[in-house]
Amino acid sequence: MKRILLVPGDGIGPEVMAAGRDLIEALGKKYSLRWALTEVDWGAERWLREGIGLPDGVLEELPNKYDAILFGALGDKRIPDMAHGRAILLKLRFGLDLYINMRPVKLFGPSLCPLKDGAPSSVNMVIFRENTEDIYLGLGEVIHAGSANEIAIDFSRHTFYGIERLVKAAFDYAVKHGRKRVTLVDKSNAIKFGGNLWQRVFFQVAEIYPSISVDHLYVDVAAMQMVQNPARFDVIVTTNLFGDILSDLGAGIAGGLGLAPSANINPGVIAMFEPVHGSAPDLVGKNLANPFAMFLSIAMMLDYFGHHHLSALIEGAITAAIETKATTPDLNGTLTTTAAAEGIIDRIQH
Ligand code: NAD
Ligand code: IPM
Ligand code: MN
Repeated sequence: MKRILLVPGDGIGPEVMAAGRDLIEALGKKYSLRWALTEVDWGAERWLREGIGLPDGVLEELPNKYDAILFGALGDKRIPDMAHGRAILLKLRFGLDLYINMRPVKLFGPSLCPLKDGAPSSVNMVIFRENTEDIYLGLGEVIHAGSANEIAIDFSRHTFYGIERLVKAAFDYAVKHGRKRVTLVDKSNAIKFGGNLWQRVFFQVAEIYPSISVDHLYVDVAAMQMVQNPARFDVIVTTNLFGDILSDLGAGIAGGLGLAPSANINPGVIAMFEPVHGSAPDLVGKNLANPFAMFLSIAMMLDYFGHHHLSALIEGAITAAIETKATTPDLNGTLTTTAAAEGIIDRIQH
């Protein structure tokens, strides 16, 4: 039995989570797998009502009580600084030390690529985003607040330990999955201390993996190359902030945020799976959000549990749905969230 904590969150989070729950339950029935699904109300409503992000003591309990977390999305216009996002989503990533943020960029059909000559084989990379450090830590201060002399300082912290374990995870993944090349993406020509550390640690770790070729790109040129020559990328390893930006760029060349999944992993402890997208305020309540990013996140979770055939089954059903335009409008279809989700579940059941 696998115990899964469901955190629907805000906006379209609950809509894609409802579809995700149906998929998980359908797979359980068909393949005699037992799930224990627990849903919690962490999100904007509770934050505004009770001032609570993660309830006390929860972080300590999670790794013992659950095998995985499935997350929807956060974001609410009543909380413009996203304070609850730091208290919930970033707290889970940092507090559970989910140091690997794996974000695959894979094209499921040529019709979805906005690039000229975009064939599925040319867009197939995996971004390893550092997930516990960088500018996300909230370190810094404001001086002379509210005056014309106001100064805002955000520190970006990088550690040998944090970089080394992420880079190793990227190389281990490359070896295990037959990937040929790992590319470091950084900004070491401008970011003096952290950039230097990333360079040294990356090339030091690379020596342990002679079978994998390595290279380096500055993040600005990497962004251009992802558009002009995406086929050059295989595995990318990068910082927290650059990984955030490049993963949306990656989604942009592979069908959009409606198709972009992610995994946040602390190996041997716990993992959290979530679509890359946010709460999509423009789609809320319209039953038009694409549930496939959630479904592909569930596929990543099933892979993590060792159910590789089920993961492949979901990917296959999504590929077929795209071919027949049995999709939501973001993928050129005319279906609602619920109808697109049912289509996949039907395909898997029959
Ligand atoms: P967003 O990802 O919510 O939306 C960006 C665009 O992509 C919108 O046009 C939206 O309609 C579209 N989109 C997103 N998900 C989609 C889906 N499943 N199907 C079809 N289209 C989809 O990003 P944003 O608008 O910059 O942010 C909205 C809120 O979400 C903000 O509060 C932001 O902080 C938050 N956010 C949260 C997460 C998260 O919870 N992991 C991630 C990104 C943004
Ligand atoms: C993501 C999101 C988050 C991030 C935000 C909501 C803090 O954009 O998961 O990509 O920057 O990591
Ligand atoms: Mn993001």
